[in-house]
Amino acid sequence: MPTYTSLQASDSAVYAALVGEMKRQTDGVELIASENYISPAVLETMGTVFNNKYSEGYPGRRYYGGQEFTDIVETLAIERAKQLFHAGHANVQPHAGAPANVATYFALLEPGDTVLGMDLSHGGHLTHGHPVTYLTKIFKFVRYKMKDVETGELDYDEMRKVALAEKPKIILAGFSAYPREVNYAKMKAIADEVGAYTMADMAHIAGLIVGGVLRNPFDDGFDIITTTTHKTLRGPRGGMILARDPELGKKIDKSVFPGFQGGPIMQMIAAKAVAFGEAQKPEFKQYAQQIVKNSKHLAKFMMDHKMKLITNGTDNHLMLIDCIQSFGIPGGEVEQTLDKVGITLNKNMIPDDTRKPMDPSGVRLGTPAITTRGMMEKDMETLGTFILSAIEKRADTAALAHLKEEVVTFCRKFPVPGITG
Ligand SMILES: Cc1ncc(COP(=O)(O)O)c(C=O)c1O
Repeated sequence: MPTYTSLQASDSAVYAALVGEMKRQTDGVELIASENYISPAVLETMGTVFNNKYSEGYPGRRYYGGQEFTDIVETLAIERAKQLFHAGHANVQPHAGAPANVATYFALLEPGDTVLGMDLSHGGHLTHGHPVTYLTKIFKFVRYKMKDVETGELDYDEMRKVALAEKPKIILAGFSAYPREVNYAKMKAIADEVGAYTMADMAHIAGLIVGGVLRNPFDDGFDIITTTTHKTLRGPRGGMILARDPELGKKIDKSVFPGFQGGPIMQMIAAKAVAFGEAQKPEFKQYAQQIVKNSKHLAKFMMDHKMKLITNGTDNHLMLIDCIQSFGIPGGEVEQTLDKVGITLNKNMIPDDTRKPMDPSGVRLGTPAITTRGMMEKDMETLGTFILSAIEKRADTAALAHLKEEVVTFCRKFPVPGITG
């Protein structure tokens, strides 16, 4: 484990929590689909003195002096991002995925304009117009869904009907809990018919697009991609907006700064540059391929053992289990049971869930983090067996404690970058 001697000397409470977190990350199985382990180089860059610099503006056009080195790292991040996604323009300043989406809406829309996005219980994200967000006070959000939850195919006919009726300014693809590939060309054709922009929120699958295992929406003519940088892309916590057309990129830049954010977080932008450099290497392609191989293998194992997966499988890094159908208990109980044996995932709504968001019917899990640790297909069977036996023995405290020891022994075979590797 790395030593944090200055922190230890200066703040024992934070140091103790950090040591606990390093142990938790090492001894547990991380199946949260949106999480990952960054490389030691990315981790190191996040803790550098780039933190000390104010850099409002963009490379070559800043409001403060002393930018010769911040300009280098932001330009590297921009150019690498453009290459990775075949984009005409990249803005690497959004502090996270949600601000990237908000800045994009404000770049492309006027108050009162309409966005057509995925129904939230079918896998859309909060920032795609959940009533709890302020976005819904400013813009109107209308919905499409899956046509058939058994296959996961989107309902492109319904999408077209709603688009013709509602005349959205943006048609939005992108999901937090959708296990299937999207037909971007069909969405683009509908958008062209009604004169809408096409926006893909690729927060979850950016790394899989870069790795060539999923389609790049730009290849089908999409206008904008927004993403987080910390999920499958395996970079620092942050966001990014890409535009196919550099002219549209100018609107995006104005919207991010000064429209919406203040000073960029330069140590994170430097770390984005490092992560994007890593994603350009052939090893990253192999990593992305292995994420999906592992995910498909785990999905098959679970379905072979009578678990009900939404859409009956997966094309990407994530799976959604209907826990009521699979085990007769809600997602929250599955989450808590697995927590007791050191397996972390999250409760999640399933399509048209009749239960409440805090007590939904399903759980979501994914393979990006465990694949970074080096787990392969055969390990998915071990994990699947752990999951099944934890749920079977959920009332037996001693059995769960024993299982937790087995999970720890298994996990310690796989190094965690930045902690034990
Ligand atoms: C599809 C999608 N968009 C946006 C976000 C928001 O990202 P952040 O949590 O970095 O704001 C998420 C995060 O889960 C997401 O899944």
